[in-house]
Amino acid sequence: MELATLAVHAGLDPDPTYGSVVPAIHQTSTFRQPAVGRFVEDYDYARSANPTRAALERALGELDGGRAVAFSSGLAAAHAVITHVCAAGDHVVLPADLYGGTYRLVDKVLARWGLRHDLVDQTDLDALERAVGDDTRLVWVESPTNPLLNVVDVEAVVAIARRRGARVAVDSTFATPVNQRPLELGADLVVHSTTKYLGGHSDVVGGVAITRDDGLYDGLRFVQNAIGAVPAPLDCFLVHRGLRTLPLRMRAHAESAAAVVEALRGMPGVSDVRWPGFSGMVSFRHPDAVGIAERTRLFTLAESLGGVESLIEVPQAMTHQSVEGSAAAVPPDLVRLSCGIEAPADLVADLRAAIAGA
Ligand SMILES: Cc1ncc(COP(=O)(O)O)c(C=O)c1O
Repeated sequence: MELATLAVHAGLDPDPTYGSVVPAIHQTSTFRQPAVGRFVEDYDYARSANPTRAALERALGELDGGRAVAFSSGLAAAHAVITHVCAAGDHVVLPADLYGGTYRLVDKVLARWGLRHDLVDQTDLDALERAVGDDTRLVWVESPTNPLLNVVDVEAVVAIARRRGARVAVDSTFATPVNQRPLELGADLVVHSTTKYLGGHSDVVGGVAITRDDGLYDGLRFVQNAIGAVPAPLDCFLVHRGLRTLPLRMRAHAESAAAVVEALRGMPGVSDVRWPGFSGMVSFRHPDAVGIAERTRLFTLAESLGGVESLIEVPQAMTHQSVEGSAAAVPPDLVRLSCGIEAPADLVADLRAAIAGA
């Protein structure tokens, strides 16, 4: 089946009781047991399992080609992956350009529990080869990276990690399964912030980790229950509904971004325009980055990305404060755009007016 078909149907079976095409939201904390220790499938308590969450997990697994475990945020998914794969004293390789919250999780939280890390530009495979040692348990990849939109060669990273027995996890939030399926490239794990393109409507926070390895899957399920960072049933429903239009939306996001990129390249003061050639994420530099972000009208000044509406932000002052002073620090004149699915001409006009005001 093609992805467009899969996206519409993944994880959805008609409700067995009434036949509703869209299954019910199981807004319950627990499940009646007809006898002690007897219950349907694994539904004994909703932190451990919930049918609405299970449907979303089936869908997310199908789209990325593995088995999915859903979490209450992208960072909760990252936390589960890292804490399951690594132990105190282990070493993890992070990209030198990455979402600030992932860096903060490793540098400020997990480091206190004995995890060691290095930041490496993963587009430089020689540098990566040097950074992966015998004690490296995990190479964390982000592709495209946030906010500089570098694309990493996942297959090459996997080959390097394998030589040292390290696992590879790919944060594929900016790409989505429409543009990149890391498990097919050999990665052990995929992570998404479903808050972004997968949910797609800026109305939910969620995350997921996906793997083909049964041992990793069991480990993630264990952490999901043991830590308890589970998504609520309504949130699962919302992400699942978003998935159904994912391929359509990703096409529209890319069309908007292509038009914006072409226009930006001719605008005064704009330099270093970046776009991976897919998705709606664009970044550029301008001496009046803050002024531009405060002047746009259609592009809303806000953190996050991947919704149908366009957003603008200045990473250094907003999403990436936690990398300030580290090797992953971002330039202060960088503007990050999440191009939505509005008419591209309206988005271009909005940016043109905001940049003309500089
Ligand atoms: C690439 C990337 N990964 C992970 C996250 C964290 O996701 P969440 O905000 O859902 O915890 C973000 C958030 O912006 C992100 O951009």
